[in-house]
Amino acid sequence: MSTTLITVDDLYRRVDHVVPAVEWATMTDDVNAILELKRQRNAVILAHNYMTPEIFHGVSDIVGDSLALAREATAVEADVIVLAGVHFMAETTKLLNPAKTVLIPDLRAGCSLAESITAADVRDLRQLHPGVPVVTYVNTSAAVKAESDICCTSGNAVQVIESLGVPEVIMIPDQYLAANIARQTGVKVITHPGACEVHERFAAADIRQVRADHPDGVVVLAHPECPPEVVDEADFSGSTAQMLTFVGTHRPKRLALITECSMSDNIAQEFPELDFVRPCNLCPHMKRNTLAKIRRALETMTHEVTIDADVADRARAAVEAMLAVGAR
Ligand code: 13P
Ligand code: SF4
Repeated sequence: MSTTLITVDDLYRRVDHVVPAVEWATMTDDVNAILELKRQRNAVILAHNYMTPEIFHGVSDIVGDSLALAREATAVEADVIVLAGVHFMAETTKLLNPAKTVLIPDLRAGCSLAESITAADVRDLRQLHPGVPVVTYVNTSAAVKAESDICCTSGNAVQVIESLGVPEVIMIPDQYLAANIARQTGVKVITHPGACEVHERFAAADIRQVRADHPDGVVVLAHPECPPEVVDEADFSGSTAQMLTFVGTHRPKRLALITECSMSDNIAQEFPELDFVRPCNLCPHMKRNTLAKIRRALETMTHEVTIDADVADRARAAVEAMLAVGAR
């Protein structure tokens, strides 16, 4: 009992800059239960950078961007993995851990990009553009990955495209990521009209306003799921993990992260001396993850992620092809 209490107090120091003590007091029951359930079930929690701080810094074992979570998923030794993120991430985790139990706290945690495209759409694109390789963003269902040659994330899209050594690719389903990567690589990109409902809402005028509001300077970081004209206004564009690395390296006194809101909270905890301007948008899917739902997932061993064996084999090949690019 005393060990558990000490652990919860220790955990509070990991979130104390962004979670008020009175709020933490309402969370400790769930935090204690989750810590105990993780031990009982031999479970680990993988959490995306968009999780709220009590999940991200509090109860999680492995955190990161989509690429880091996929990489780390290949090395998990626990019997049970809870994916605190969205459904496509849980599917990727399951693909890489077919013998383990992978749980997602809320089955409704989807993604506007994953929902924008079906396996039949990919087959149609292939027919229209025979011989052109299909590079699929990990923000897709396993069924769509299964129709693809290779996957990518926003953290490795440039390397993945360049590894193919071709003048033209089909890059789906994010039209903005595709446009941004086409400009960076010079490769011709055929895409699909998908978009992230969080990042497509940012406008170039938002960034100009942030700069006008802070005439003494603000460094702006934008996620490449934002439209190209937004990326053009930013000082840096990269995946969520690349943003964190940029902040750690450059320590800008004042900064604006043009991405999901929890990203700023999680980085602010690590760099309390920095001033965060927050023109952020919330992802309703990511925000379906709560401590109470993680606790319930571990208590009831739901919701288990399963993937049809044939789809899984083909989708895994596309994910592994991506991971092999990073390993070269
Ligand atoms: P990354 O964390 O890979 O940058 O992805 C952002 C995102 O929107 C995931 O849903
Ligand atoms: Fe999908 Fe955008 Fe939410 Fe990420 S932030 S899960 S890309 S809707």
